Amino acid sequence: STVSLKNAYVKNFYIGTALDTNQILETNPLTTSLIAKEFNSITPENCMKSMFLQPEKDKFDFKMADKYVAFGEKHKMFIHGHTLIWHSQLPSWLSKVKDSVAMSEAMTKHISTIVEKYKGRIGSWDVVNEALNEDGTLRKSVFLNSYGKDFLTHAFKLAAKADPKTDLYYNDYNLCNAKKRKGAVELMKNLQKNGAKIDGVGEQGHWNLITPTLDEIEQTILDFSALGVKVAITELDITVLPNPWDVVGADVSQRAEASEKMNPYPKALPEDIKIQLAARYEAIFKLFIKHQDKISRVTLWGVNDGQSWLNDWPIRGRSNYPLLFDRDFKPKEAYNSVMKLKEEK
Ligand code: G3I
Repeated sequence: STVSLKNAYVKNFYIGTALDTNQILETNPLTTSLIAKEFNSITPENCMKSMFLQPEKDKFDFKMADKYVAFGEKHKMFIHGHTLIWHSQLPSWLSKVKDSVAMSEAMTKHISTIVEKYKGRIGSWDVVNEALNEDGTLRKSVFLNSYGKDFLTHAFKLAAKADPKTDLYYNDYNLCNAKKRKGAVELMKNLQKNGAKIDGVGEQGHWNLITPTLDEIEQTILDFSALGVKVAITELDITVLPNPWDVVGADVSQRAEASEKMNPYPKALPEDIKIQLAARYEAIFKLFIKHQDKISRVTLWGVNDGQSWLNDWPIRGRSNYPLLFDRDFKPKEAYNSVMKLKEEK
């Protein structure tokens, strides 16, 4: 049948998913056919991060990234790149760079090599990921420490030079929080003032059943699009599990991984929460449709519940249910509610 997310939303925005190693290597034919049927955009969940692309200084490894791009081309998808500059998942050589000259050179080599290699094949890049603290100040990182605050401008200018046509994004989480959002707006204005090309902001969208509120999500979309850039929802998933910090506080020793409080739904999600999740997805997509002129892409962070990173964060071995497809690759109530929005029109 032609009924699918990507077809239902074809006039609104791209509908994407993240692909990790198993999806890229097509280890399960069910996954491949589901991805091909439902999604028209992909993001690499891990394989384009610096520790994988340049594990040793000046030694690049494009094996998995090549397969990722080939997958998207085979299925005629919009292919996104994630991520060039991030403080996490760094190769150890890069985390040890100390002075600004060495960092400038390292950034030049890393960004130019990768972006030029896929020039014309990758539609947009997360150039810098998660540079902000929750209070909106710049996060301490090897980039900030060695290069200084203008590492952002340097990164965006390098990416634009390497592929002038690809869209360049700043990507972060919790941008619905007012202080962090204000910091992101400042960061964007600063890039624009410095003459860097910046095409969009990625709001990751790691949300839960209650927060952020719809008003906060809407304000975020409005604030960023007021800067004259595109807004993408880049890593959408809705956790249904309690945050361990809320249950036992900061005492890590109390976070027994298998405890019922931490993993309350090991077998299946109770009916009432399924309905809550479906309603949450429906409300969020309704808002996205309302602002479709500002939104370029909505990407789910994973294909189905079984392979979501949220089963292992912030503690391992839980059963979470954050996506639109269940562990058997079947569409969930949440999927139906997102589809229903389009049928009613
Ligand atoms: O590479 C090792 C591999 O050698 C080892 O065998 C395996 C065993 O666990 O682990 C592998 O590393 C894992 C890595 O993903 C690559 O697969 C790590 O354990 C795992 O913690 C890591 O998690 C990723 C996480 O980023 C790292 O911070 C998640 O899959 C990925 O979904 C997550 O994605 C991030 C976005 O990039 C940025 N925004 C937040 C989002 C969620 O944290």
